[in-house]
Amino acid sequence: MATAMAAATAVGTLDIRPLTPAIGAEIHGIDLGSAHVADHVPAIRAALLAHKVVFFRDQHITAAQHIEFARHFGDLEIHPATPKDQADPEILRIAHGPDSRGTENAWHSDVTWREQPSLGSILRAIEVPAVGGDTLFVDMHLAFQTLSAQMQRFVRGLNAVHDIARVFAGRLGKTADDLRAKYPPQTHPVVRTHPETGAPTLYVNTAFTSHIPGLSKAESEHLLAQLYATASNPEIQCRFRWQAGSIAFWDNRATQHFAASDYFPARRVMERVTIAGCKPFYDPARG
Ligand code: SIN
Repeated sequence: MATAMAAATAVGTLDIRPLTPAIGAEIHGIDLGSAHVADHVPAIRAALLAHKVVFFRDQHITAAQHIEFARHFGDLEIHPATPKDQADPEILRIAHGPDSRGTENAWHSDVTWREQPSLGSILRAIEVPAVGGDTLFVDMHLAFQTLSAQMQRFVRGLNAVHDIARVFAGRLGKTADDLRAKYPPQTHPVVRTHPETGAPTLYVNTAFTSHIPGLSKAESEHLLAQLYATASNPEIQCRFRWQAGSIAFWDNRATQHFAASDYFPARRVMERVTIAGCKPFYDPARG
């Protein structure tokens, strides 16, 4: 298996410390609110591609600085769950407490229901429980590599449908048909080629994927269950313990994540900014 380099490295003034041999690294030696962040963007981008998710500690930045940091990596998305009158619509607030149990506890990549799903998400911890509420990340290239060569060949030729209504019809209080009229279900390859690294990556998830066209309902359900199960291998995961001021920046084209909803009724408040990506493709010439 190709894994990220496990040794700590210094890039310029950045100190990059891997969390596991497979996925995740903490980046120290940077203030994301400083005027000099732009100087570090190439190194952060390289670390993101190498480690799939990078973490920063003690970043007590404002919402505006959060947005400004994210803009260094591309255009920003506005999520339909953001209230229409919100002053900074690029921020998606994810807040739970005594009145609402966390609902992000399913393995997924963000907004795969878009025609051009997100490149990456940058999540900032505002308020965290004393214990619990960790987020787990899994490397979906390594997940693909856990499949047999025969199964890899089979799934490379398939597409899957991704449907916003599976999660957000209920949450947004809309009918599935109304939501689908605005955000039609999208068909993406089951194995996508990462546009920057070229790595083949499993791109189906329990939250948004509805089915695999061309297979019977039973075949589609069985195959998806088997592909989802690849994410549950702890050897290709990392787990991040949040503190207020922690930031995680993950590559949605290469990973999935799962926010443990084990902290109810404590409060956990996070803010997410999501960077626009490209239409997923599979390029057989690149693997
Ligand atoms: C998300 O699913 O984007 C949020 C993850 C988290 O709250 O840790």
